[in-house]
Amino acid sequence: MAEKTKNPRIQELQEKKDLSRQGGGSEKIKKQHQIGRLTARERIDLLLDKGSYREIDAFVEHRTTDFGIDKTKIPGDSVVTGWGTINNRLVYVFSQDFTVFGGSLGEVHAEKVVKVMDMALKNGAPIIGINDSGGARIQEGVVSLGGYADIFLRNTLCSGVIPQISVIMGPCAGGAVYSPALTDFIFMVRGSSFMFITGPEVVKTVTHEEVTFEELGGADVHAEKSGVCHIVSDTEANTLFLVRKLLSYLPQNNMEDPPYALTDDSPLRREPALDTIVPDDPSRPYDIKDVIGLLVDGGEFFEIQEAYARNIVVGFARLGGHSVGIIANQPAYLAGVLDIDCSEKAGRFVRFCDAFNIPLLTFVDVPGFLPGLDQEHGGIIRSGAKLLFAYSEATVPKITLITRKAYGGAYDVMSSKHLRGDINLAWPSAEIAVMGPEGAVNIIFRKELAKAKDPDKKRAELVEEYRKKFANPYVAASRGYIDDVIEPSTTRARLINALEMLSHKRDSNPAKKHGNIPL
Ligand code: HXC
Repeated sequence: MAEKTKNPRIQELQEKKDLSRQGGGSEKIKKQHQIGRLTARERIDLLLDKGSYREIDAFVEHRTTDFGIDKTKIPGDSVVTGWGTINNRLVYVFSQDFTVFGGSLGEVHAEKVVKVMDMALKNGAPIIGINDSGGARIQEGVVSLGGYADIFLRNTLCSGVIPQISVIMGPCAGGAVYSPALTDFIFMVRGSSFMFITGPEVVKTVTHEEVTFEELGGADVHAEKSGVCHIVSDTEANTLFLVRKLLSYLPQNNMEDPPYALTDDSPLRREPALDTIVPDDPSRPYDIKDVIGLLVDGGEFFEIQEAYARNIVVGFARLGGHSVGIIANQPAYLAGVLDIDCSEKAGRFVRFCDAFNIPLLTFVDVPGFLPGLDQEHGGIIRSGAKLLFAYSEATVPKITLITRKAYGGAYDVMSSKHLRGDINLAWPSAEIAVMGPEGAVNIIFRKELAKAKDPDKKRAELVEEYRKKFANPYVAASRGYIDDVIEPSTTRARLINALEMLSHKRDSNPAKKHGNIPL
């Protein structure tokens, strides 16, 4: 609250600002707190560096007269907008105020959001939207729909230019979900936020399914099943903390490099545990996150979409202080096979990193694409092509490490040399071939096996022969498809060296309006 003054003009200003700060009033604020939610301004205070927030448009009022709504005008209307800093870097923010008309979006609400989005785009800084709204303001009709579309257009124009982050902290329903869906990352709060196109009542009428808000569009549903949500947390405070953390890996815009963070973790640190981390038996799993944890600065890995399509792991980390985007097949889940969901998850992540100059570090241990009717009919051809497209068009530094299996088309897809991989390394445990030994022997020696007196013994001999010949990194290395085979314990130093060697990389794609990624 500002210091009291005797100057009547300043007094009037202070009163007006106080009124705006009260939003929908103490009763509505109490209700918001009772259900475990913070107000729009409290959220901004937690999100931004202390004292950095500058609010604009606190005097804006709606212009609607229908349904008696003109009797209630609250300065600032149902969204709070402005800018501030996170870790001393500029960000723009809008935060929907549920205490004012349920945070519903009418004409001036949309105008306020559009204004800060335009400023963010012009000034090259991230935009963070905190969503808590009953959707289109019913009293304003089509004007609200127009307002949403104005925002969707900005989301699309900002895409790939500035990072866009959506934080869902209450309802987000109907067409309103499409603004967050167009942004780069969606954060949700477990138990108090939900997103859906049509609510439980409509679902019941149309499909006769009875579902709760949580079952239909709660945080866990979107984190595990739909993949719409990227980060889930239990409290609003922790969710906002995680937004701050995510931004620490990202540049301000597509013309800048990601920030460098000093580290006391030695770039030359050897990790002997890596020499034995891959089991000798190729059918035994290990957790690729253990590998990542041993390699990156301070063992810190900021995972994205942790609970979705767990056969691939994506997220941010630092190596020698440099931000990297990590994509890793996960042998501990479905043997790390590529399927529809994980191809889309990884493809989107690769494109984000490429748009924002974040080098890609790919860990490969993949037995191939997942076979089956579900996958074929669900469009694995199209989805796998998305990941292939994303890696192919990416021009940021691309470093690949094959830890174990790299079979079939999946070898090609996972940032191979042939897709402009800059540095492709392998551990001695790597197996790079068209397919695994058992499958290969069954196909190419079918006739011999049928004729053999002891087919099992013959098969075992042939498998061993194939394994020796192909299930290793040296055939690929002899062609230059692998730049070097390295001792696992030295990996951290090799990766940091490669990143620094590539730090001034320049590459581009042919001039075009845009490519046609198989959507
Ligand atoms: C105007 C709204 C509103 C809306 C809520 N309010 N939603 N006012 N337009 N869309 C008002 C309520 O009248 C109420 O005002 C106050 O906000 C708080 O709402 P409550 O219902 O009391 O809160 P709660 O019980 O917590 O329920 C929250 C809710 C519910 C689940 C969001 O309000 C609801 O179902 N609202 C309607 C949601 C909806 O159908 N929206 C349109 C979706 S279609 P008072 O004065 O009583 O406090 C859409 C299309 C977008 O958004 C298309 C984009 C292309």
